[in-house]
Amino acid sequence: MTTVTKGIDWETFSELRGSEKKEYLTREGNIFHVIMSQQFDRQFLDEICELATKIRGIAKGNKGLAFLQSLLEGKRAMLYFVQPSTRTFLSFMAACQILGIHCSEVRDMTTSSEMKGESPEDTVRTFSSYVDLVVMRHPQAGFAERIAFLLNQISRPVPIINAGSGKDQHPTQALLDIYTLHRSFENYGGIDGKKIAFVGDLLRGRTVRSLVYLLRNYEGVTLYFVAPSELQMGDDLKEYLREQKVPFEESNSLAEVVPLVDAIYMTRIQDEYDERGESKAIDYSAYHFKKEYLKVLPANAIIMHPLPRRAEIPVEIDADKRAIYWRQVRNGMWVRVTLIATIFQKAKDIREY
Ligand code: CP
Repeated sequence: MTTVTKGIDWETFSELRGSEKKEYLTREGNIFHVIMSQQFDRQFLDEICELATKIRGIAKGNKGLAFLQSLLEGKRAMLYFVQPSTRTFLSFMAACQILGIHCSEVRDMTTSSEMKGESPEDTVRTFSSYVDLVVMRHPQAGFAERIAFLLNQISRPVPIINAGSGKDQHPTQALLDIYTLHRSFENYGGIDGKKIAFVGDLLRGRTVRSLVYLLRNYEGVTLYFVAPSELQMGDDLKEYLREQKVPFEESNSLAEVVPLVDAIYMTRIQDEYDERGESKAIDYSAYHFKKEYLKVLPANAIIMHPLPRRAEIPVEIDADKRAIYWRQVRNGMWVRVTLIATIFQKAKDIREY
C-alpha cells in the first residue's frame, strides 16, 4: 500500500509504536477508530467505566431505554465477522439495538464477493458506502489497523472497531475486562495495586495481550504469567512491560500463584492457530482451575475468563461468588454501548440525562 493519510504513508505508519498511532485513530481530538489497546489512556478508561455504569442505570427504565434508542436512531452498522464469535457478535448487535442503530452482517466470506476475487480491503470499503460504522473480526492480525488507515483517506470515512484480529488484539474485550475489574474492586481500592494472574495460552491469546496493554495504565499492578513454556507470553509484550516498568513474573505452577493474587484470568488453548496440531503435545490440564484452589484463593479475589471455555474452568466453579465470567459477558454489552456512544460523541448527552 503506497497511499498517504494525514501526511504519512502505510510503511511509515505501520512501523510506529502503538501509542504513536493514536493520533491517526482520532478525529478532531475524539476517538474514531478502535484498533488497539495502546491507544487508550487512564482518563479514557475511567470515563468509559463511569459512563457504562451511568448507561446501565438509564437502561433500567422504559423512559431511559427510549432515550438511549433515540441517541443514534437512523445510523447503520456492518458487523463483519469472518472468524467465529458468539459473545462479541451478539453483544455488539445488542449494543447497536440499544442505541437505535440498524445492523447488517457478513459472517462468512463464502457469501461475499471475496469469493470472486475481491480484496478484503475493497470489501470493507464497500461496506463503508452503506453504513456509518464497521465492526470487524478477522483472522489476520493487523487487518483492522490497515483498514482504518485506508478509510482515513476517503471522503466519507467511517469508524472501524476491531472486534478481534487474529492472535494480535481484542481491544473491546480488554475494555469490558477493565470494567469488570473496576466494578469488582471499587470497594477495595480499585485496580491500582492489584496482583493479576493470566493463565493458559498466553502466546496466542489476543484477549490477554489487549488487557495486559491496558493494565500499564494502573499504578502498582503486578502481573503473573502462568503458562506452559511453549505458550508463555510473547517477548514483544514482556519488553513492553519492562519499558513501562510494570513488574511481572513467569510461572508454570498455577497452584503456587492462586493464593497470591486478586484476580485470575483463565484462558482456553487457542489451537485454531496450530500449524501442525502441536497443541496436542501440551499437557494443558496443569492450567485448569481445580475445585481445591477455591480454598486458597483469597476471599475478595475474582476468577475471570473471556469465554468460550473448555475444561480449564469446570462448571462446578460457577457457583462460587468469586467466579465472575458470566458478569463479564453482560458487562461486554454495556461497555460496547458506551464505546459506540462515545465514538459518535453522545457521552455528554448521556452524562446530562
Ligand atoms: N470473548 C469473546 O471474544 O468471545 P466470542 O469469541 O464468543 O466473541
